[in-house]
Amino acid sequence: MLTRQQTLDATYRLRRLRRTKTLRRMVQENTLSPDDFIYPIFVHEGANRREPIASMPGQFRLSVDLLPAEVEQLSALGVPAVLLFGIAGYKDAHASYATQRNGVVPQAIRAIKRANPEVVVITDVCVCAYTEHGHCGIVREDGYVDNDASLNVLAEMALAHAEAGADIVAPSAMMDGQVQAIRETLDEHGFTETAIMAYSAKYASAFYGPFREAADSAPQFGDRRSYQMDPPNAREAVREVITDVEQGADIVMVKPGLAYLDVVRLVRDAVDVPLAVYNVSGEYSMLKAAAERGWIDERAVGLEMLMAFRRAGADLIITYLAKEAAEWLKGS
Ligand code: PBG
Repeated sequence: MLTRQQTLDATYRLRRLRRTKTLRRMVQENTLSPDDFIYPIFVHEGANRREPIASMPGQFRLSVDLLPAEVEQLSALGVPAVLLFGIAGYKDAHASYATQRNGVVPQAIRAIKRANPEVVVITDVCVCAYTEHGHCGIVREDGYVDNDASLNVLAEMALAHAEAGADIVAPSAMMDGQVQAIRETLDEHGFTETAIMAYSAKYASAFYGPFREAADSAPQFGDRRSYQMDPPNAREAVREVITDVEQGADIVMVKPGLAYLDVVRLVRDAVDVPLAVYNVSGEYSMLKAAAERGWIDERAVGLEMLMAFRRAGADLIITYLAKEAAEWLKGS
């Protein structure tokens, strides 16, 4: 039998490789880089409009003319991609603004591509910001969100974005078959190279609260539980992801992030396509609020959170922290 001393020397001296910063760097298992970040941007109509979002300090609603400067800043920081959310010019029952060829999102895509064609432009495809009831699909007379009737408008919306030059469309309505409907419509119109990032495992989460203020997209009655996933379920997320991959998703997503890291890992182990995680509005706002009170170190906690997404298996991180984190990483 080994003495305690022998045991320690032989196997348990894990601290040896933690002794210096360089040793730690050498054995670091995961990395974090601005290359992995996707920055969400809220776009509204008008000119020279930069409106702060109260519940998300540091985030703004921007008019299209302000986007070239915004993406220039992002490229300088090494952030490769943006995710665009439109704020409707008007709302109706059928989300007709969502499919307008000259709506605020197509305008934004063209403005960004003109300013810098290298920026990867991703667009959110969902109608909740465009319907007067605030649901993610077309609502039947009895109040139920009609799955199949919603597919057409989502496919048309994705087509409008592809025509304007989006690189990737990101369906987030959680309608069954939305990826297939979009893939077929894009292909029929010759947009075979436009990719799909599917919000595959999107939960009915209270962490979206601040976003709904930002996008003016809160449901006016009921909630999203009949189409978004139920938080107690994890296996079901794998099923959602597999069906999306079968329908043609190029990238899949788990959302929210922090409270769903187990789901990120399950999905990572189940499929080989790139996996994105959405570090959602409520997660951002919690960090900001605690930091504002001086209760936590924003930079350290922010980077630790982002690294956790990578450790759980995410390739890409959609985060409102993209700019700040890119700065923090320069200094680290
Ligand atoms: C649209 C959509 C939502 C978010 C992204 N796309 C809101 C929702 O589903 O209610 C949330 C993003 C965030 O909270 O940062 N359906």
